Amino acid sequence: MRGPSVPLLIIGVLLLAACQPTVGLSPRIRPLADVSVETEPLIADEAGRPLVPSALEGRAVFERICAQCHGVEGVGDGPLAKFLKAPQKNPFTDTMRLLGLQVKGADLPSRPANFHNLVQMRLNSPFSMYETITLGRAHTAMPAFGPRPAYGANRGSPILTDAQRWNVLFYEWTFATSPQTLALGRSLYEGRTLPVTVEGLGQIRTTCAGCHGARGDGRGGEFSQVIGRNLWGWNLGQGVGIFADRDFMAKRKPTELYARIADGHGLMPGYKQQLTVDEIWALVDYLWTFGYIYTPPRGQQP
Ligand code: HEC
Ligand code: HEC
Repeated sequence: MRGPSVPLLIIGVLLLAACQPTVGLSPRIRPLADVSVETEPLIADEAGRPLVPSALEGRAVFERICAQCHGVEGVGDGPLAKFLKAPQKNPFTDTMRLLGLQVKGADLPSRPANFHNLVQMRLNSPFSMYETITLGRAHTAMPAFGPRPAYGANRGSPILTDAQRWNVLFYEWTFATSPQTLALGRSLYEGRTLPVTVEGLGQIRTTCAGCHGARGDGRGGEFSQVIGRNLWGWNLGQGVGIFADRDFMAKRKPTELYARIADGHGLMPGYKQQLTVDEIWALVDYLWTFGYIYTPPRGQQP
């Protein structure tokens, strides 16, 4: 086999050299300390002021507007449910349209979500629900309640403020848990002392609150400080104060939190040997309550 010719090699080397970035500090790069990161809060009102979502306030909106389809108890059986159609969704007319033929046919039914369906709810994040409520959902009967619906007109549905949309979704969130489950979660979080092995500290005995703090803000626990100091700078905000950080939690899914508690991550110990599946889910449900005002939904008064 013959190697590449010498002139080609020279051209190659010259081209490569031309692609190298100029080395040396550019005076335009500011030192890190000067860079201020301005982040808009995600859970905020129209003026950008941060909000604490309230399921109690969301209940009024839910029962006035959403219950027509989703049902007062959130199982998807409201008075309108059986009449709902999925716009532009019909296997027969869709196939005909592929063949270039426009025919008329009935649309398929569209079923409102059941907020007690744990398989579905544990894959939602508060933010994904916020997007659905704000924009509506294409090819289903779920209307948009934001000022700029993405999918056609908002089909006569009222425009809700940002606060109303956050409040109502957290009310829907409460259908997927119960006061009893939250009480169990709290007793485990604050009261169950377990032996865990932590990098740099060896084996310690503590509760979840021992690191995360009783209010989920990473303060006040016996190990909060030492753990907080050991986290990397870029990991701060993803540290022990995680649960009171509403914007961070908004994009989390219950399944992700479950996996972290079961398997651990970095300085977070894994608990799957010491807690049952139901206990871990109770903890996950409880963790959200650091970021919104809980109220039991109808049909679940303690
Ligand atoms: C006209 C009937 C109707 C009304 C009114 C309605 N919804 Fe829906 N909603 C639906 C339907 C149908 C779906 C299921 C969409 C699908 O098939 O993906 C749905 C789905 C949703 C979902 C997605 C759930 C998931 O797990 O993906 C959320 C969140 C939701 N609705 C919230 C609301 C809220 C909040 C209100 C009141 C402000 C509301 N809906 C009012 C019909 C309605
Ligand atoms: C030894 C201190 C310590 C203890 C005890 C502890 N955690 Fe953590 N936890 C952490 C740290 C540190 C992190 C951040 C880890 C990382 O870098 O991702 C974390 C992260 C988490 C996360 C991941 C959040 C996310 O979305 O990334 C969850 C969920 C969690 N902890 C729940 C719990 C629960 C529930 C308990 C009690 C059963 C508990 N933790 C006990 C230190 C602790």
